[in-house]
Parts: sequence; C-alpha cells; structure tokens
Amino acid sequence: MSITPLMPVYSRCGVRPVRGEGAYLIGERGERYLDFASGIAVNLLGHGHPHLTKAIQDQAATLMHVSNLYGSPQGEAFAQRLVDNTFADTVFFTNSGAEAVECAIKTARAYHSSAGNAHKHTLITFNNAFHGRTLGTISATNQEKLRKGFDPLLPGFAYAPFDDLNAALDLVDDSTAGFLLEPVQGEGGIRPASQPFLQGLRDICNERDLMLVFDEVQCGVSMLMNSSASRPTSWRPQRASAAASRSAPALPPKRRRAGWSSARMDRPMAATRWRWPLGRRCST
Ligand SMILES: Cc1ncc(COP(=O)(O)O)c(C=O)c1O
Repeated sequence: MSITPLMPVYSRCGVRPVRGEGAYLIGERGERYLDFASGIAVNLLGHGHPHLTKAIQDQAATLMHVSNLYGSPQGEAFAQRLVDNTFADTVFFTNSGAEAVECAIKTARAYHSSAGNAHKHTLITFNNAFHGRTLGTISATNQEKLRKGFDPLLPGFAYAPFDDLNAALDLVDDSTAGFLLEPVQGEGGIRPASQPFLQGLRDICNERDLMLVFDEVQCGVSMLMNSSASRPTSWRPQRASAAASRSAPALPPKRRRAGWSSARMDRPMAATRWRWPLGRRCST
C-alpha cells in the first residue's frame, strides 16, 4: 500500500497556498485567494503583517525557548492580562485546543481527588460535542465519526442530549465530577445553550460541589470574552478552554490556546475592552 509522505488525515482541497499578503493567499501557480478562513478562525491577524512579523523576529532573536523550570516574565504578564479581563483567576497555556480541554478534564478530576473524593471522576458531556482529537477529548464526545477505530477509549464520561437539563441531571450520581460543554456547540451545528440550561447546570454544581467546565475553543470563545460585560454572572464556569482567535486584536500575536480557571465564582468582573459578536464556526 502506498501512502503520501504527508499523512493523509484530511481530505484537502485544491487550494495550495505558498505565500500570504494581508487578507490574501497566493497559490503555487500565482493565483490569489481572499482568505475568509483565517487558519480556521484561530489566526485572525492576516498574513505577513509587518508588526506581527517583527514581533516574531524580535522574540526569535531574543529568546526562543527555555524550560518551564524557570520563571517566565512574558508568560506571567500575558496571564495577568487575561486574569484582569476575564472571569479567570489563573491561566494555563497550551499549544492546542485539545490540550486545553485535556487540562480542564484533569483539573476537574484533580479538584475532587485533592479533596479526598477521587471517586468523583465522571464528566457529563453532550451529544454532538467536539472537544478535540486526542484520546481524552474524543472520549468526551459520543460522535461515532470521531471515535471510530480508536477503541478502547478512556472511561469517565457520560453523554446527555445538548440543552436538555433534565437528561443531564438524571445522569448525576456519586461518580460525577461535573459537566463539560461548549456553551455554543460548533460541530453540533452552531447551537447556543439556553440560559435556563446553563443556569440549571450552574445550580447543581453549586449544590453538589461539581465542576462546570466550558469548552470555548473557536466557536464559543466570545462567550467568555463577553461574559464580563453582558453575560449573567451566575453561570460562569470554574474552568474554560479558549483559543486566542477572537482576542487576537488585543492580545500578543501568538497562536496560543489557553486553559482558564476560576477558583471563585463571586468575583466582580473587570470592565473589558473585548466585545465581539458570537463566534462563527469552522472545524479543524
Ligand atoms: C469546541 C472545540 N474544542 C476543542 C477543539 C480542538 O482544538 P485544536 O484543534 O486546537 O486541538 C476545537 C477545534 O475545532 C473546538 O472547536
């Protein structure tokens, strides 16, 4: 059997860009495309912008990488900026959305484990969810097309219909760690969760000391950014994973994903400069 050197995990289209200029991509035969896709909505700063290019060049020439055994003045400053402008008290940077969700799953379990409740390890997730393509995150969805061929998957997930509060509550038992959901489902078809649903999840989490984990990578990221200004405070999550796409104009130009955590649910939100409409959805 022959296989292409670049593993064919995607059926790629015929667009083959070799260069970018602002909002345009230039193909290998010199044809120009207006780029509405922006790296599937996570690289919104265009192509070859001089400020972005210079920032990357300067940083590459200054310090590329050190181990996380050392302090990180730049990382701390960036995290502080996110903490100042969102619900989060602390931030964990990752390289991909799936890793951010993995981090959220681990911290939800670790929270209960450190309280002596290691049996509380099951996250209730929702039909048609998409949380990434690692083993952990495909275990967190019941979509057959994502899971097929990868058994055995990880235990510790239960699945309820999206936006169906009673069905979700029916799954809660002694092993429940919390809920993991996209406040706006992307793969599920741009479906925003209703406020009563989110409020109901928040209430049961408060009542039973469960974790409410939002996956806001790509599609729903604006929910988090906007929440400080316009969303009810009562159903904020303890954990959220988000991509930097929506925040690109305000944040350093990195294709960074982040896991965000809040220890406190009663914290007044700082006024935010970030106001975007709800995200539009593309899939990675
Ligand atoms: C809701 C959601 N979660 C997680 C992911 C995974 O992100 P990544 O492709 O960066 O691993 C995505 C990507 O599309 C997503 O939309």
